[in-house]
Amino acid sequence: MTPSDKALVPFVSVDHMMQLIHQIGLEPMLRGIAEYIEADFHRWELFDKTPRVASHSAEGVIELMPTSDGEVYGFKYVNGHPKNTKEGLQTVTAFGLLADVATGYPVLLSEMTMLTALRTAATSAMVAKHLAPKGADTMAMIGNGAQSEFQTLAMKAICGLKTVRLYDIDPAATRKCAANLASHGITVVSCANPEEAIQGAQILTTCTADKQYATILTDNMVGAGVHINAIGGDCPGKTELAAGILQRSDIFVEYPPQTRIEGEIQQLADDHPVIEFWQVVTGQHKGRVSDRQITLFDSVGFAIEDFSALRYVRDQLEATGLYHALDLLADPDDPRDLFGMLQRAAPED
Ligand SMILES: NC(=O)c1ccc[n+]([C@@H]2O[C@H](COP(=O)([O-])OP(=O)(O)OC[C@H]3O[C@@H](n4cnc5c(N)ncnc54)[C@H](O)[C@@H]3O)[C@@H](O)[C@H]2O)c1
Repeated sequence: MTPSDKALVPFVSVDHMMQLIHQIGLEPMLRGIAEYIEADFHRWELFDKTPRVASHSAEGVIELMPTSDGEVYGFKYVNGHPKNTKEGLQTVTAFGLLADVATGYPVLLSEMTMLTALRTAATSAMVAKHLAPKGADTMAMIGNGAQSEFQTLAMKAICGLKTVRLYDIDPAATRKCAANLASHGITVVSCANPEEAIQGAQILTTCTADKQYATILTDNMVGAGVHINAIGGDCPGKTELAAGILQRSDIFVEYPPQTRIEGEIQQLADDHPVIEFWQVVTGQHKGRVSDRQITLFDSVGFAIEDFSALRYVRDQLEATGLYHALDLLADPDDPRDLFGMLQRAAPED
């Protein structure tokens, strides 16, 4: 039986996603996704918002991240398993979906392992564009795993980063990251320890994976005037910064009810003041106000960013044709005769 048009949902495979990134170009695509995210942060208030639904285990977490703008609904499935890389598996994998709110019919199914790396990096750079000190051109990149090249190139594409200083407890990760970035028009300095990595850096990115309260940056490592882009602390019991740094920083977050559970601020009192970043985008709150201020983006990753990234991908499909039509929805001729459709599909004896 041939499925009808209504049964078919565009599906973007990993292969098509990689082709899409190469066709558009990584840096233009990072800029494009950042624009979609910023546009959705502008209309933040109209979205349905909930902390993501997390299922924790001893080794990791599996999460569902839903949201809706009233016309389109979206969700992402994502895991986080720091021990995975030792078994040849990735720490983070994901896929996601958009659906039409009016009918409930899905309109896009997509891989999101690649796309999460792009959207996380695009979000970080969009935030740094507002918060990093003027003229910031050097970043310390601590944690040189799967996200690290994307973080670096988004900062280059969106904030004009010129130099990245790499550090990872595993030198093989730093070698991999340095080799991957070699031909991307950015100066790469491999460092032997985190203290060396932060030298001369105005942006400090922590992007490590460890299921514990880690101290990637100690209090005395962070001087006045820097912007911290804290990516890896994104689960209960999983943080990267010394609490003293948080006390000295102006803390910007995505969605406080989620960040208070998952972010660096889980180390602080429940009522510690934080600034919702969407209010900086809309101009309701100031971003950086002084040269000496420490700004901290306590990133955990929020559903609206995935929604924006999926929206971006959906808008590229018609022009590129980079998708498969997936037979995802049963579509009987008579909508109430699902059983009849099954019977008609029985193999003939
Ligand atoms: N905030 C978000 O939106 C968001 C999105 C995606 C991933 N993440 C998180 O970002 C982190 C990195 O993700 P990834 O996919 O790159 O993971 P990954 O496992 O590929 O890389 C993590 C790297 O951190 C290094 N590392 C661990 N402990 C370290 C330490 N003490 N000092 C220096 N380096 C250390 C590891 O050796 C590894 O190379 C994870 O914790 C993930 O959960 C956050």
